Amino acid sequence: MKKVLLFCDPGIDDSLAIMYAMLHPNIELVGIVTSYGNVSRKEATTNAAYLTWLAGRSDIAIIPGASMPMNEEDLVFYPEIHGEDGIGPISPPNNFQFQTYSMDMVRLLIEKYRNELVIVDLGRPTTLAIVFTLFPNHIEMVHSFYLMGGAFFIPGNATALAEANFYGDPAATNFVLNSAHNLTLTPLNATQSAILTQDIVNVISNNKENNYSFMINDIFKYYYAFYKKSTPGIPGAPIHDLLTIMLVNDPEIADYINYDVKVIEDADAKGMSYIDYRPASKAGKTKIAVKLHYELFIEKVKSIML
Ligand code: BDR
Ligand code: CA
Repeated sequence: MKKVLLFCDPGIDDSLAIMYAMLHPNIELVGIVTSYGNVSRKEATTNAAYLTWLAGRSDIAIIPGASMPMNEEDLVFYPEIHGEDGIGPISPPNNFQFQTYSMDMVRLLIEKYRNELVIVDLGRPTTLAIVFTLFPNHIEMVHSFYLMGGAFFIPGNATALAEANFYGDPAATNFVLNSAHNLTLTPLNATQSAILTQDIVNVISNNKENNYSFMINDIFKYYYAFYKKSTPGIPGAPIHDLLTIMLVNDPEIADYINYDVKVIEDADAKGMSYIDYRPASKAGKTKIAVKLHYELFIEKVKSIML
């Protein structure tokens, strides 16, 4: 059983990743650390708590993290992609109440699951960078790290050059990329192919045993409407964060290259990620998913979501 501590900013694709983790028989979600990103920290936190509550799992610790990037001017939200509240047209009830824990809970969870804990970060890496500085002696007790972010030699999605998570806080991203061990990255190179189509979503949302089936179609339609406008002709919507968490249990869904990753922190190229990909360059420490095995991806999504 993989013990996963999830950092995220739900967000539609983050929400689908949470659902997947909650439904997966081989993943134990031990906590969710929320931060600003697609929406504000307040909305991301409420959404994470709501999704756990819907599955009767309010015992999962909800831990609010960063409310803004290292450089406050970088703070941008994306309601046009994820909706005003973050889960497309779905909003948690107005009077929705839930318990939250302080960041010290992260330390306690690392200790509790010493050498076993997998940290998956699906949002801006600000909060994870803070964890590295708050608990430096605990980091080596973490088993491995998975991050969604970056775009290598392909267009970005936040700007022409940069992917949204890395663009949101490039300084924190560089810090995490330098400091994390056993790190797997899912950049846009792989996640932009992790497309769910309306047909697949119909099948998933017809399965009434899934606690989330009532909302999956509506949130997908909202998200896909954005992608239809931004990428004319796209057959479905890329669920970036879903692929990232899937790799924890099913690494064979992608092919990888290993390089040290850097992110540009200023000017027009802010958030742009790069590796030294010249033929004679040395291999590095970060395992980067660059190619998706699409049939396998869909087979695994269906097997869990159904
Ligand atoms: C990433 O940015 C966010 O908007 C998504 O949730 C995903 O984590 C894709 O670039
Ligand atoms: Ca995200």
